[in-house]
Amino acid sequence: MNVVITGAGGQLGQDLQKECSGRGIPYIAADSHALDITNSSGVLDFIKQNSPDLIINCAAYNAVDQAENEWQRAFQVNGLGVRNLALAARKVDAILVHYSTDYVFDGQKTVPYTIADFPNPVSMYGRSKLLGEQVIRDLAERFFLIRTSWVFGVGNINFAGKILEWSRGQDLLRIVDDQVSAPTYTKDLARATLDLAATGHYGLYHITNSGSCSRYGWARFILETIGWNGSLLPAKSGDFPTPARRPSYSVLDNFGSREVLGYELPSWEKATLDYLNEREVVP
Ligand SMILES: NC(=O)c1ccc[n+]([C@@H]2O[C@H](COP(=O)([O-])OP(=O)(O)OC[C@H]3O[C@@H](n4cnc5c(N)ncnc54)[C@H](OP(=O)(O)O)[C@@H]3O)[C@@H](O)[C@H]2O)c1
Repeated sequence: MNVVITGAGGQLGQDLQKECSGRGIPYIAADSHALDITNSSGVLDFIKQNSPDLIINCAAYNAVDQAENEWQRAFQVNGLGVRNLALAARKVDAILVHYSTDYVFDGQKTVPYTIADFPNPVSMYGRSKLLGEQVIRDLAERFFLIRTSWVFGVGNINFAGKILEWSRGQDLLRIVDDQVSAPTYTKDLARATLDLAATGHYGLYHITNSGSCSRYGWARFILETIGWNGSLLPAKSGDFPTPARRPSYSVLDNFGSREVLGYELPSWEKATLDYLNEREVVP
């Protein structure tokens, strides 16, 4: 198998590279400088040159608040960029793996969203990711479309990394308890992605770490684990107005992936502990 990873410099892209290396799978890692997925001819040339069996697209515009203003850029990367990859994948008969988000849902449910639930995004970011889903379904022949949530991994550009950063400079933190979902560790998602890609059971999946929590609950777990001495207080989303609305409840039901993979991803607590150990911040 010959794999191309696009957006390879991002948090999931980096762990997918490690997962491929660990399995002895040859791969070509293209970060945003090596391949801009919004460049249609560039994407086609790159894919034709490398002729992969599997393309894993980790490239995305993920700036949820910025997307309210920069929506054209979000639609370009998360929609049209995905179209370029879908068309190129068809040309070389490659399987395409692409990731979407819990933010395609409006958060009105109180039980986990299944793949049979209808998306209804409440932000431009969510709409741009939904466009990517539609493009894949319309244009790709063999694809895995994986919705996931609250992704965290290497680097500080995620909620867990931010909590670690804030814990160093502050002794009082207020974190919202009215947004509930499932944190998902890039190492676990990378493993599940390669396992799923090997099944040939194409289609739409939800893949997250198991269980669910609020942002406040996740922060409390992190801060207790690292032995932080400050005070953590629950807050409401309305206390911190942001340009983009977030769904209040966006837990994804993993039943389809559980059935095909034959396992569940570890609990979000175990995943967070693994991440904190990776960051070497557990006393
Ligand atoms: N992060 C989350 O909480 C979350 C939640 C649900 C779903 N997801 C989805 O999960 C997938 C992986 O997310 P992630 O957190 O690993 O993302 P990430 O760390 O933000 O990485 C995204 C990568 O895409 C690259 N990129 C942006 N525009 C590009 C373009 N036009 N062409 C090529 N590369 C481009 C970025 O490069 P530069 O930095 O150089 O721009 C970055 O390295 C994405 O599809 C994301 O939407 C993420």
